[in-house]
Amino acid sequence: MIFGATGDLANRKLYPSLYKLFEKGNLSDKFAVIGVARRPLTNEEFQENIKKSVKSSIQKEDRIDEFASHFYYHSHDVTDSNSYAVLNNLANQLDSNYDLQGNRIFYLAMAPEFFGTIALHLKEDGLTNVSGFKRLVIEKPFGHDLQSAQELNDQIRTAFSEDEVYRIDHYLGKEMVQNIEVIRFANAIFEPLWNNRYISNIQVTSSEVLGVEERGRYYEKSGALRDMVQNHMLQMVALLAMEPPIKLTTEEIRSEKVRVLRALRPIEGEEIKEYFVRGQYDKGTVEGTQVLGYREEQMVNPESNTETYVAGKLMIDNFRWAGVPIYIRTGKRMDAKSTKIVIQFKDIPMNLYYSPEETLNPNLLVIHIQPEEGITLHLNAKKAGQNIAATPVKLNYANRGIDGLNTPEAYEKLLFDCMRGDATNFTHWDEVALSWSFVDKISDVWENQKAENYPNYNAGTMGPREADELLEKDGFHWWPISNFDVDKC
Ligand code: BG6
Repeated sequence: MIFGATGDLANRKLYPSLYKLFEKGNLSDKFAVIGVARRPLTNEEFQENIKKSVKSSIQKEDRIDEFASHFYYHSHDVTDSNSYAVLNNLANQLDSNYDLQGNRIFYLAMAPEFFGTIALHLKEDGLTNVSGFKRLVIEKPFGHDLQSAQELNDQIRTAFSEDEVYRIDHYLGKEMVQNIEVIRFANAIFEPLWNNRYISNIQVTSSEVLGVEERGRYYEKSGALRDMVQNHMLQMVALLAMEPPIKLTTEEIRSEKVRVLRALRPIEGEEIKEYFVRGQYDKGTVEGTQVLGYREEQMVNPESNTETYVAGKLMIDNFRWAGVPIYIRTGKRMDAKSTKIVIQFKDIPMNLYYSPEETLNPNLLVIHIQPEEGITLHLNAKKAGQNIAATPVKLNYANRGIDGLNTPEAYEKLLFDCMRGDATNFTHWDEVALSWSFVDKISDVWENQKAENYPNYNAGTMGPREADELLEKDGFHWWPISNFDVDKC
């Protein structure tokens, strides 16, 4: 059952992803989808919508009619018990028609203010009373801060146990985010160096070219810290910093990630200025087009104090990472759409190849998460010619996906995982709670102290100057997130 079945997420991501699973044979014929939303639609109209949304993102659509025939529609009022009873009857009927063996997945692709009400009704009106499995998939934002997340969690947990709750963080479905673990734990050459003896700093950038678009109302209350750092950025950091799990099971991986988040040094009060920089975009030029400043966007307060950019320095106080800064930055209306991780290794003890023209670059391992997918290892090698001199070289690996063209989209993988009952790439409540408690200490201060220098970066740039200073005072600089040329790999 997809609640929010006529919404943007369902149309743009869920239906095309389900179709891909169907087409590849990863979704058996024994499935039915009930679309649940407020507006009245017939099954036929709903099926037409499904076809439209699948066609807009898929080239091969041979089995689209067959696929769409598995979709049913229920016009629903989330607060009305009678409506849940009708929904349950439909679900029971489809269960026997399609031989679903009492298995149900409830996907809440809608505003979080209804999560609690829906979960309660699902239980009270008997929809969770099934003979097979029941799973709940929920989208972010999971709360606004720790307290609201806790309340939401309590409501959900009255109807579903923790292992039945699948909290989506779509970054965990990205191919190269999943690859972090493999790069680290399947190679003898990296893991021995993966610590404070050999790594000087780590930089995680997730920059966007888009502005706030039509999401001004949500974004005004959220800002970049809650929108990106609490979830996606901290999840990437946890994967980069965790200890090797003893097995690749959901429990073992999650518990290692939780340990990283527990070791994250809390940043509070006066020291926030030392560790975090916030920014808000002004008008500027993005990809050759003039764009508005944040305060001029729809549904945004003309004196808004909301940050559209965050850069921060995280410290993980444990044996492996003591003293190694992990810099993060994310923002809207930046120079490029790019998510990259740069691991900078320490300098060699003595440089035998010093030349006034060329200094040795530190070794870097760059993990390209998106839009390109791959890895680059920056080394130094002999400069061609007679003199013995060193010059920087790069080893590239491009991830070309299973069909040589592209890798499955995050949602396709996450939906498949959920159907198989694998919750590894979903966030556990403990991770959510720890991330909120880290972020709350910063957002509380930021909310109460107006930023004096807003707006402080032009659209189309890499953010405010202060973000550069954050690294410069530690003797580092941001590595450029320049393009990675897959064709040359
Ligand atoms: C979402 C945020 O979680 O992630 C958006 O709410 C942001 O504001 C998006 O644009 C970025 O995702 P991606 O996959 O495009 O990097």
